[in-house]
Amino acid sequence: MILALETSCDDTCAAVVTAGGEIRANVISSQGVHDRYGGVVPEVASRHHLELTGAVVEDALEQAGTTLPQLDAIAVTQGPGLVGALLVGVATAKALAAAYALPLVPVDHLHGHIAASYLAPNQLEPPFLILIASGGHTLLAHVRDHGWSTDSVELLGTTLDDAAGEAFDKGARLLGLGYPGGAALERLARDGDPAAFAFPRGANVPRLDVSFSGLKTALLYKVRELGGEETTRLRADLAASYQHAIVETLARRVERALDQSGLERLTIGGGVAANGALRERLRQLVPDLHVPPRELCTDNAAMIASAARYVAPLPFPAYLDLDAYATGERQL
Ligand code: KG4
Ligand code: ZN
Repeated sequence: MILALETSCDDTCAAVVTAGGEIRANVISSQGVHDRYGGVVPEVASRHHLELTGAVVEDALEQAGTTLPQLDAIAVTQGPGLVGALLVGVATAKALAAAYALPLVPVDHLHGHIAASYLAPNQLEPPFLILIASGGHTLLAHVRDHGWSTDSVELLGTTLDDAAGEAFDKGARLLGLGYPGGAALERLARDGDPAAFAFPRGANVPRLDVSFSGLKTALLYKVRELGGEETTRLRADLAASYQHAIVETLARRVERALDQSGLERLTIGGGVAANGALRERLRQLVPDLHVPPRELCTDNAAMIASAARYVAPLPFPAYLDLDAYATGERQL
């Protein structure tokens, strides 16, 4: 059994997963304190991780009915993410592992998002295409096998500016919805016409990358033009058209990637994977779209434990000087 810690952003997570990919515990403590600032405040996140990590680990071990000396290894998100937040997880994992001379497995956060698909009971086997869209990342990748080398995972596209979730959040803010606003924007869009406004879809971006910068500006100008006079109907139309532009931007890249790679299996991850319009659109491309449960799409430690099963563990005491990395250590 593997215990994993994930503290790359604002969720303090610990999970216990078996070698076969069965989840024995998946504890997530969402901090919630950042919402009033309209975004995650890194220093506040680190301090909360410090307060919460011990309890979250204890909960996970108790739920799994196991103890530290019974574990095979301890895994931790090494990066990318907020460096102060990552350091809390890395230092805690090192200390817990060293106390029992257990091996430590450093995991890349994006490998974790991919490995969410390897968890029981609905495992997806490579090769497949994956779209990860969250508040922190937007990534399209060809997954050839379970590992994390450039041979295993080929990055096909990423965002040139905002992550897809950020685009949702910034749009939501312009429409006067709270933070994070993706889900609220989707609710508002339900009563709107996605064809009411023709928002840009990043069509001139090369390869399989995406860009949301022109889209946000277009919404900003439209909202200014309306000068706060917009009716409920008009706001719903703006939300629906804005959402449609994001969904189309992502779906077109996915469609092209499927064509170019010849892949038939598709899965999604990240908070934006909860979006109904996106799922519906992707199901037009691949009818049996693989969607992990929501709690495995958003940041969690079960996915980190899952990835750890395919990473070489560092024996004690080789990991004592292990450090976190804030940005892509391994250039995919
Ligand atoms: O994976 P996640 O929980 O954590 C971060 O990476 O921060 O993703 C959160 C993001 C936020 O930007 C949120 O607005 C977006 O996912 N999101 C949604 C929906 N639910 C969450 N975006 C669009 N539609 C949704 N239903
Ligand atoms: Zn993430």
